[in-house]
Amino acid sequence: MTKSIPASSTPAASVLAPAKINLILRILDRRTDGYHNLWSIMQTVALEDEVRVSLSGSPRDIRLRCDSVQLATDQRNLVYKAAAAVMERVPGKVGLDIELRKSIPMGAGLGGGSSDAAATIVALNHALQLGWSQQEMAEVAQPLGSDVPFFLYAPTALVGGRGESVKPLPVAGSKWVALVNPGFGVETRWAYQELSATRNAVRPLSDLHQAFDRGQMPSWSQLAVCAENDFEPPVFAKYPLLMQIKQTLLDQGAEIALLSGSGATVFGLFSSEAGARRAAERFVGQRQLKSYVVPTCCGPLTAR
Ligand code: C5P
Repeated sequence: MTKSIPASSTPAASVLAPAKINLILRILDRRTDGYHNLWSIMQTVALEDEVRVSLSGSPRDIRLRCDSVQLATDQRNLVYKAAAAVMERVPGKVGLDIELRKSIPMGAGLGGGSSDAAATIVALNHALQLGWSQQEMAEVAQPLGSDVPFFLYAPTALVGGRGESVKPLPVAGSKWVALVNPGFGVETRWAYQELSATRNAVRPLSDLHQAFDRGQMPSWSQLAVCAENDFEPPVFAKYPLLMQIKQTLLDQGAEIALLSGSGATVFGLFSSEAGARRAAERFVGQRQLKSYVVPTCCGPLTAR
């Protein structure tokens, strides 16, 4: 459900916050802090929220408005947390008026909240003329959540550790993506627990994975060969609809069709917009399902 946000003064910075898909998601060993190391190639796609920042005269006050009634606009919101983390490092008496406009479905495996947090850091870096490097922004991003640093190295990156190790990994050319969201969420903590309970061992990374690790640039056809998501077996066992969505996307000619993150969104990758739209049409009229057709992003998050 959405509500309209009254227009404010001209923003000092506006940043589009894209969704992400995992072209590869391998979950490795469990760490001593209870989290798992992961190995993922992540890619931003042009389904975007927007973060607008205006500077206000109320010293160090952070005011957040959002067009989604589902989201808190206080300290629980990642955008608020990101703004507070930036303000902690910045001297001065300025206040912030932030508008968040949501388009990315929430709790969907598309990293929307994390992207909004990264976009907030990029917007404040611009609006407050901080001159921070990608790495400096990533240091602020890291405590906010595992997926946040990735968005500062978008559009494509290899993500390791708990999400804090990010290496940009350019892929030549773009693709079209059909995203199919079933209208329910999958709890990430449950997905990790179920994966641990149902697998006997962590499969080692393949030679191709290791080549990407050493910095070899992947082609889309190489990615199609090794695209996989370790969450699919446990998540599909509980939600067979998601496997049916994947199969429909493959039947429609998707080069890759995968669960994104721990779900519940499933995406299909196509070489043409027409192909992606034909595939998405298969889901029109199905109760609760929502589909989106967007290209992969070709550039980083940018402040305007
Ligand atoms: O990142 P987020 O807080 O959404 O993760 C929810 C839960 O998923 C964590 O509390 C943890 O149990 C599990 N998790 C994990 N390893 C990760 C990320 C999340 O075990 N790298």
